[in-house]
Amino acid sequence: MQRQARQWRRDGVAVGLVPTMGYLHAGHLSLVARARRSVGARGKVVVSLYVNPTQFGPGEDLSRYPRDLSRDRTLCREAGVDALFLPTDAAMYPGREQGDYSTFVVEEALSQGMEGASRPTHFRGVTTIVAKLFNLVLPEVAVFGAKDFQQAAVIRRMTRDLNFPLRVIVAPTIREPDGLALSSRNAYLSPEERAQAGVLREACLLARQAVKEAGDAGLPAAQLKRRVSACIGRKPAAHLDYVEFFDPETLRPRRRVERGSHMALAVRVGSTRLIDNASMNED
Ligand code: PAF
Repeated sequence: MQRQARQWRRDGVAVGLVPTMGYLHAGHLSLVARARRSVGARGKVVVSLYVNPTQFGPGEDLSRYPRDLSRDRTLCREAGVDALFLPTDAAMYPGREQGDYSTFVVEEALSQGMEGASRPTHFRGVTTIVAKLFNLVLPEVAVFGAKDFQQAAVIRRMTRDLNFPLRVIVAPTIREPDGLALSSRNAYLSPEERAQAGVLREACLLARQAVKEAGDAGLPAAQLKRRVSACIGRKPAAHLDYVEFFDPETLRPRRRVERGSHMALAVRVGSTRLIDNASMNED
């Protein structure tokens, strides 16, 4: 991959990277389309597909993460992807089996709350693998989905702090008709759970409406959190992990929520953990 990427660089060909863990859906394909728009017809779009073990905690869904390589290949071909990069564990983490892989990339501020608090080693795994992908694919642009709002912020920060010579693009979340954000993990949901999973979006819209009605004064985060929690609680299969209101740039929690604040939440629906987020601006 790196040899090919260096050749493209020498030839003046722009490269756009879409990092994924596979089991592709329309959300991923929208990232591919965004990468193509950025690099143009002469550029190369690379999709990496790697279920990165270091971003899964003990007891998380690494071993059962959904996989369908032949379908992913077909979808990439149909979407005009130039290269599907499928690194092995041995290539990405040499020596890890023997316990002598020892270099990680850690972002120390934006990664602390929310997903970082619920999944303490998650972002260390994400920043490490994304840095490695940047070094292997040498892209001019890399495209990530807005569903993982905190991940996108952490990656932007890492890119800035480590001087990676590329532009990070964050593309909008693609949703099902009931508002459920597309995610490979939606495949875990039973029909009953799937029918209740739209509640994440419902909770985001409820909060946005409340912020809109509060006008310039805004309203206390604690009060909004109670309303979100009650909304989630109305679905028997759904259990709120966290909901947070914060500044979209710094990710610092806000005690008073106003237009321009951002909201993120994680909810377990049955045994599936889903996340979503929304701006508290009316849009
Ligand atoms: O968002 C994902 O699918 C993963 O976290 C990523 C960015 C591909 C890193 O493994």
